[in-house]
Amino acid sequence: MTFPADLHADAPAYLNGQWTRLADCQVSVLDRGFLFGDGIYEVVPIYSRRPFGWDGHFTRLTRSLASVHLPNPHAPEAWRAVVDGLVSRLGLEDQFVYLQVTRGVARRDHAFPRPAPSPTVFAMTSPLKRPSVQDRTVGLSAICLEDLRWHRCDIKSIALLGNVLAREQAVAQGAAEALLFRQDQLTEGAASNIWVVKQGRLLYPPRSQDLLEGIRRSLLVELAESLGIEHQARTISRQEVEEADEVLLTSATKEVLPITRLDQAPVGDGHPGPLYTALRKAYDEAIDRHRRAEP
Ligand code: PDD
Repeated sequence: MTFPADLHADAPAYLNGQWTRLADCQVSVLDRGFLFGDGIYEVVPIYSRRPFGWDGHFTRLTRSLASVHLPNPHAPEAWRAVVDGLVSRLGLEDQFVYLQVTRGVARRDHAFPRPAPSPTVFAMTSPLKRPSVQDRTVGLSAICLEDLRWHRCDIKSIALLGNVLAREQAVAQGAAEALLFRQDQLTEGAASNIWVVKQGRLLYPPRSQDLLEGIRRSLLVELAESLGIEHQARTISRQEVEEADEVLLTSATKEVLPITRLDQAPVGDGHPGPLYTALRKAYDEAIDRHRRAEP
């Protein structure tokens, strides 16, 4: 089987109860993840060898499984053992762990297979490249696109073609992210949550089935609270985004970063703004506290 040249064949992986090398993992072509995108996933950042925000990730994993009527294949401690096992095998301080569950292997038929096959459980880990100085201090470019995805974006589904096409369109235009709008209202980024600053106030789209409840959404709100930054969850129009003082994105791997160019035009004065700077500092401090905390 071909293996991507930019990945380590020896990277640790977990497949259906077995510890293995990434290059040795094999899944049937009849897996429903492969045929239908019928599965869910999580991406968990690891700092100093411990998951950051694990309870939130575990809760969302449980919710995604329930939303697609998949029984949880593991107890909470067993999931944690998968994460810890990967982290210790790769042995780096900072990593990101990927967890995936699909409905398993069955004859191709759209409805759920009866009886239910055992789900396919796959997990791997990779070195976490934290945001660069350039990304932190200059910021990212983004484009605006119509959100063409389904209406259950709250489920962390592996069926990501809508997200993939949006991100690809951004990259093809030299941008890092696509901001998605449904009927002129901001939903989220192709692989991130989006925040808008207006007159010193941090705004973000309310929780809904049209966007993923990122683990960093509650974290950023917590950090804003601690800094005395006013914040509000409300619908945000495209015009408000275009006229924002600051635009930020959050995700497991990008943490929090400023978007300083939108469709080639500067956001605000085109430089990372004061709320970003304060939240970025608070985010770094939260990571530092996590690094120093007793296991
Ligand atoms: N994606 N919205 C979408 C569509 C996402 O794909 C992500 C993250 C987020 C942010 O969620 P969180 O704060 O929990 O990372 C929002 C991950 C990183 C990925 O698919 O690789």
